[in-house]
Amino acid sequence: MRFLVTGGAGYIGSHLAWALLDRGHDVVIIDDLSTGVGALIPNDATFVHGDCADPKCLRAAYGPEPIDGVFHFAGSVVVPESVSDPIKYYFNNTTKTLELLRFLLDRGTRHFVFSSTAAVYGQPVTDQVTEDTPTEPINPYGRSKLMIEWILRDVAAAQGLHYLALRYFNVAGADPQLRTGQATPEATHLIKVATGAALGARDGLTIFGTDFPTPDGTGVRDYIHVSDLADLHVLAMDDLLAGGTSGVLNCGYGRGFSVREVIDTLKDVSGSDFPVHDGPRRAGDPAALIADPSRTRERFSWSPRHDDLTEIVESALAWEKAWLARTANGA
Ligand code: UD1
Repeated sequence: MRFLVTGGAGYIGSHLAWALLDRGHDVVIIDDLSTGVGALIPNDATFVHGDCADPKCLRAAYGPEPIDGVFHFAGSVVVPESVSDPIKYYFNNTTKTLELLRFLLDRGTRHFVFSSTAAVYGQPVTDQVTEDTPTEPINPYGRSKLMIEWILRDVAAAQGLHYLALRYFNVAGADPQLRTGQATPEATHLIKVATGAALGARDGLTIFGTDFPTPDGTGVRDYIHVSDLADLHVLAMDDLLAGGTSGVLNCGYGRGFSVREVIDTLKDVSGSDFPVHDGPRRAGDPAALIADPSRTRERFSWSPRHDDLTEIVESALAWEKAWLARTANGA
């Protein structure tokens, strides 16, 4: 089969590109490399450098052949930036998805897997959220993604689109073969920052809030290994192509770890006692956010392969080490 991956030079998109190639599919990537990294694009993928909403790039990506399905990762993902520059988020995420949808429906492509986010839930009153938990995003990033979910529902009803919107929880780790990993220089994720600190590439780490109503006072999150998340995308597309119904699905494991637990695991795995400082809460951070993944597990008969915090942290650390060495050598 032949699939288009927008944002395929990014962290999660590049893992999916490898997962598709591993299964023998043809992969076409569109990425403007604004945050994606060219070195993460697999050699066997066809690459179009440009904007996923630009018809010229889309025509180049399609070529004369049909595309069986689209995985749409391209977009802006930094929550504080979405607060200071909302137009960028509504434009890059919402408007560009509309342009993309219009193009692919014109070309007869009807199967679409969309990168949504647990940020659509905002500050839920229960720690563990199902897909039916009310969606009340608290920042433009979450709203820009939720608007796309609504648009997808309407387009599916009117024009025969088949879609799954995957709501990601906290994605971490790296490809076990270290073919790709988190390489965005400005990435602010906890595990990315902590691996940099463990390897001496960052001065240390600040814990954003130690007075949350959680067992140790620090924020609790549901960390999912990026390779399991890539598998879920493949399962989602297979399911749609087999006639599965459209909708939204949580992508997490259903259990949470605190910031301190993550740091302690990383210290154990790395053997580095890097400096950690207690700091104030970061604006907009919920105390705990954990998926109820029952619907996803049942629909795909899914058993994750990497549901282990130590394994997630080990792979993130191994990637960070390899990536720092590659960039030091001018990669
Ligand atoms: C992440 C995503 C967000 C997504 C959300 C869905 C990022 C940057 N954010 O948010 O796009 O919508 O998951 O659940 O990928 N922390 C520290 N110190 C640090 C960094 C983080 O204490 O230097 C804490 C945070 O306060 C939080 C936890 O670590 O409690 C995880 O933070 P982070 O990795 O940034 O992800 P989220 O903010 O949960």
